[in-house]
Amino acid sequence: MNLKNRHFLTLKDYSKEEIRYLLDLAHQLKADKKAGKIGQHLLGKNVCLIFEKTSTRTRCSFEVAALDEGGHATFLSNSQMGKKESIEDTAKVLGRMYDGIEFRGFKQETVEALAKYSGVPVWNGLTDVDHPTQTLADFLTIEEHLDKPLEDIKFVFTGDIRNNVCYGLMYGAVKMGMHFVCLGPKSLHIDPEVLAYCKEEAKKSGGTIEVTDNVDEAVKDADVIYTDIWVSMGEDESLYKPRVEMLSPYKVTQEMMNKTGKDSTLFMHCLPSFHDFETTVAKTKHDEGIDIREVEDEVFRSKNSVVFDEAENRMHTIKAVMVATLGKDA
Ligand code: CP
Ligand code: NVA
Repeated sequence: MNLKNRHFLTLKDYSKEEIRYLLDLAHQLKADKKAGKIGQHLLGKNVCLIFEKTSTRTRCSFEVAALDEGGHATFLSNSQMGKKESIEDTAKVLGRMYDGIEFRGFKQETVEALAKYSGVPVWNGLTDVDHPTQTLADFLTIEEHLDKPLEDIKFVFTGDIRNNVCYGLMYGAVKMGMHFVCLGPKSLHIDPEVLAYCKEEAKKSGGTIEVTDNVDEAVKDADVIYTDIWVSMGEDESLYKPRVEMLSPYKVTQEMMNKTGKDSTLFMHCLPSFHDFETTVAKTKHDEGIDIREVEDEVFRSKNSVVFDEAENRMHTIKAVMVATLGKDA
């Protein structure tokens, strides 16, 4: 499999076999790291990490992954891009200096423009409508914990079913032939183009995609229950109140976990999470009488929760993406 010089903007651009290859490579790179083997796939490579939004996992994953493989990373959070300099010109400048570019920010169009003009591989570290490196990490985590192939997995995403993380997971799931359920209120409309695309891909892969507001039916037999915060980065703070009203029935509770009928159901979350009131955002909203917790603390900390494995796996899967698209002999 040769993915050299490919961009990684969305899993829509990748086949089932290519996603399989990236997951296998990530399993291998993780095992190598645990065995103390030093990688050199990115020796002499410089990568630029552009962040318009905040990050803990994604930024650290790209930095550690690059350094682990002998490369070097520059973190760029206050560039001229989009303010004093066009995205096209910025892409051309960075492409002269760097071998690869990661972008996290507000618009998918920006990561696409960087890919169009930079002349080097560009990786999507989250936009308004996608989070493909998160999806890879989540699939790796499922494979580590559940003893069955991805195509046999019933995956339920509950809550804000039209956000970037959910769409990214949907794209990956339909490519891999999984059974994906979007669980949320009827008033939250998934982009019809996204849904049509996923239904078409599911037909090809033997997967299924379902949208429902019925909690009991959705979670029955689920292998995975996944959620994310209810107001994403870049969305207005004033949305917390209406979202809490709309999404509270879809909060992950122990009662919901019990309804799957399985002891092995994984609880998953991309993080960061408002599972308690230990953050300023959750605390401030709590003081205003708004409970923004999308999952019960009890579930978040339970034995079924694999959230920190997902976080670790961001690094191994991002490493696989960089090694595959940029590295030597992967
Ligand atoms: N899951 C994720 O992308 O985390 P960060 O926002 O911390 O990068
Ligand atoms: N949906 C969240 C994901 C954070 C990793 C956001 O965009 O803020």
